[in-house]
Amino acid sequence: MFTMKSRIVVVALGALLSPVFAAVQCPGTFTPITANDWIKKIDPGWNLGNTLDAVPNEGSWNNPAVTPDTFDDVKKAGFKSVRLPITWTTKIGPAPDFKINDAWLERVATVTKQVTDRGLYAIVNVHHDSWEWFDWSGNANKKDLEAKFVKVWTQIATKLACTSSLVAFEPINEPKGTTKAQGDFMNRVNEVFLKAINDVGGFNPQRVVTLVGLGEDSIKTSQFFKKPPGSWKNPWAIQYHYYSPYDFVFSAWGKTIWGSNEDLTAMETDLKLIRNNFTDVPLVIGEYAASAASTESAARWKWFDHFIRMAAKYNTATILWDNGGDFLDRKSHQWRDETVMEIIVNAQKGVKNSLADSTVDDKADTQFTSAYIFHKVGAEVADQSLPFLLNGNTVKKITASDGSALSTPADYTVSAGNGKANIVFTKAFLAKHISSSAPAGIKTTLTIQFSAGASARVQIVQWSVPQLQGGAKSSKAVAGKDLEIPIAWKGLPRVAAVKATFNDGEFMADDWTKYKGKLQAGYATYNNHWKWDEKNIIITKDAMGIVAQKKKPATFTFEFFPRVPGNSINYTLTV
Ligand SMILES: *[C@@H]1O[C@H](CO)[C@@H](O)[C@H](O)[C@H]1NC(C)=O
Ligand SMILES: *[C@@H]1O[C@H](CO)[C@@H](O)[C@H](O)[C@H]1NC(C)=O
Repeated sequence: MFTMKSRIVVVALGALLSPVFAAVQCPGTFTPITANDWIKKIDPGWNLGNTLDAVPNEGSWNNPAVTPDTFDDVKKAGFKSVRLPITWTTKIGPAPDFKINDAWLERVATVTKQVTDRGLYAIVNVHHDSWEWFDWSGNANKKDLEAKFVKVWTQIATKLACTSSLVAFEPINEPKGTTKAQGDFMNRVNEVFLKAINDVGGFNPQRVVTLVGLGEDSIKTSQFFKKPPGSWKNPWAIQYHYYSPYDFVFSAWGKTIWGSNEDLTAMETDLKLIRNNFTDVPLVIGEYAASAASTESAARWKWFDHFIRMAAKYNTATILWDNGGDFLDRKSHQWRDETVMEIIVNAQKGVKNSLADSTVDDKADTQFTSAYIFHKVGAEVADQSLPFLLNGNTVKKITASDGSALSTPADYTVSAGNGKANIVFTKAFLAKHISSSAPAGIKTTLTIQFSAGASARVQIVQWSVPQLQGGAKSSKAVAGKDLEIPIAWKGLPRVAAVKATFNDGEFMADDWTKYKGKLQAGYATYNNHWKWDEKNIIITKDAMGIVAQKKKPATFTFEFFPRVPGNSINYTLTV
């Protein structure tokens, strides 16, 4: 470890001894920082997803061009850093210069400055290029790839050479490949990247870098990553990404339940194994998420709380992935799940969060969750009890969406014991929002504040089974396009899970799910096979293709929250 003074001497000597390139000279001074300190200071962080990384252009995907106030929102929520995923592929000119479009370099520099002007740390990278020209998992000529990569990084590092030590570089996002040879090439890429940015000069020889392993996943990084040889002095950390378990995070195979002891242990094991492989290297999880748009709230809150705590336990910083539809609504400046934001910030500091209790056994036949008060249209209103895992806290205050505070015992009572609280909402209070005949919908959100940690937001939802427009029951499977089925939501405006079976009982996808529980056996996968928007349930073109090709009818059972018997619609694709 260098003191600040000796660090400057080392760099000055290096500059004197190195051959004279047209090295960038920066005005002002650079405040050196160790990789360890840098990683501590960026925690927790947020990703500007699907924006500068969109292909072909910023604005091409689901987000408009970013505006600086987005970073105000991010800072206000308690984040300390922003990872800027950037795709360069369409902006790079022809060989041999591979000149990057000036306007794009300027745009990247401008957005980086918007981040650092707010005192936030930034990671600049080369992102979906790993799917495009910089993909060495096939037969591409590695010499050519390397030459282009060096030119690209030379230009980025020149443009950002004089940025402060708030800015770090990441050579490449999620490089493809699975073999040792591909892993070795990634190690070489880290080194080539270091040489390129050091040759540029400026403040780059002192800049923090987050190096990566194959796939940027914990296992392949553990297997193949080697510290780069060479004389670069950059403080360096390893960055990897975490989206696990796949089925919960990506709503595959009906997995809406998470939080069993096995789930908790598996997550800890993942983070522990990579930490044990790199005991003295600062680590950052540069992407992770379970989207607020598609996962069940109580399960998601447990997932985030445990994840952030385990990352902290294994001395690993975290940067949330947000594609623009997951967490921050950039237009309205509202976070879609404020509870998750508070869970992250509190768990990172070691403050205990109280959590909504929920079903954790994924072999269960129904799913219970304390993130909602569900009331079925037609049922009489009665007291409803929600268990919470207190984790050492007490219930402090409950308010409704309009800001009015609930009173106890008229509106609710709390009985605590064994680390849990049962919050019983009285019939008299609930009757202000729901009745046997009120129309379905989300009636209000209760904010339950605890003596410490995140508050829980509990929605009161009056529900009945949604209806497909015109009572639609079937249509023909036509390969090659999505099928949009208009729906009238009757409660939460979203699908929980979708089961898909052919008329002979064969599952449409993933036969092995027969070994799963009742809420998972035969279930298809969100985005791959089904999705929804505000007005429609959508059977994807992939699922349509499977049914058309099999030439036998398939029944899709669309399930909604709460996941209880009867809250579903059957729809048949004929052939
Ligand atoms: C390193 O990581 C690999 C892959 O996850 C794992 O199998 C191995 O046990 C880890 N090594 C240590 C020392 O934990
Ligand atoms: C939906 O179809 C399944 C068989 O695929 C059947 O068991 C179930 O009763 C049906 N539900 C309704 C509401 O028709």
